[in-house]
Amino acid sequence: MMRFTLNDGNTIPAIGFGVFMIPGDGPTYDAVLAALKAGYRHIDTAAAYFNEEDVGRAIRDSGIPREEIFVTSKLWLQDHGYEQAKVGIARSLRKLDIGYIDLYLIHQPYGDVPGAWKAMEEAKAEGKLKSIGVSNMSPAIWKKFVPGFETKPAVNQVEFNPLYQEKEIRALMVETNTLLEAWYPLGHGDASLLSNPTIQALVDKYGKNAGQIILRFEVQDGVITLPKSTNPERIRTNLDIFDFELTGDEMNKIRAMDTGKGSHDPDAPGVEQMLRGAFVIED
Ligand code: A2P
Repeated sequence: MMRFTLNDGNTIPAIGFGVFMIPGDGPTYDAVLAALKAGYRHIDTAAAYFNEEDVGRAIRDSGIPREEIFVTSKLWLQDHGYEQAKVGIARSLRKLDIGYIDLYLIHQPYGDVPGAWKAMEEAKAEGKLKSIGVSNMSPAIWKKFVPGFETKPAVNQVEFNPLYQEKEIRALMVETNTLLEAWYPLGHGDASLLSNPTIQALVDKYGKNAGQIILRFEVQDGVITLPKSTNPERIRTNLDIFDFELTGDEMNKIRAMDTGKGSHDPDAPGVEQMLRGAFVIED
């Protein structure tokens, strides 16, 4: 598996297996074990996915050495602020029960983000979190918070796919050497993306499926990608993108597919309130 180097010197597998929306009472355990068996070594969860325990149990039971698996989790909004973030970090560590967390993110960038970040910096210094980053930061939110951070985020995990290439935030992230992690990297199965003629021409040329072409574009463009699939064949083949390379011209053709629009706008009025009211994470 190809790895990228983060701005703190740690490395991260270019493709991760996301467990958003997979129930935490068994299905996540099975899915993570299946993903590890298929060759994934990077699992992306969150406190707000309610399945950290299953992720941890699958990793412990996998027989794969802990240091060979990269695990991301995320702090939920209710735990923002310095003191409360310490509680949230401790809760994730306890639920996962895998010693340390490779990458921990501010899941939604509202409220007392600076306080939460300070607690994350301390947990990183103590070795509980190996790398720290943010998620869902728009350019406006980035400009509000990141200049005040002592440690620059290793990643910003945002919605990204060929139709929504986040060019403005990427330009800001270059300054801090922050990598982009893509959620909805396949446009959440958007048919207009998968059947796009530019993608389909490359399907024919390389003998890969549309998802593989898109994931190859993303990784080749320096993006860490988190494709989701419940189909065992696609879970496996979505990793099989390292035996071909898109030409510079092909990369530019896909870059030209950007519409500048996605499904989630972190700056939209009411988003913070909607997320805050969504649920409560319990110990
Ligand atoms: P399935 O679960 O049947 O594989 P995203 O990661 O952007 O949220 O997209 C997930 C969607 O993309 C799911 O509907 C998934 O369906 C589909 N998908 C996953 N891998 C591929 C692939 N290689 N080609 C086409 N569709 C895919």
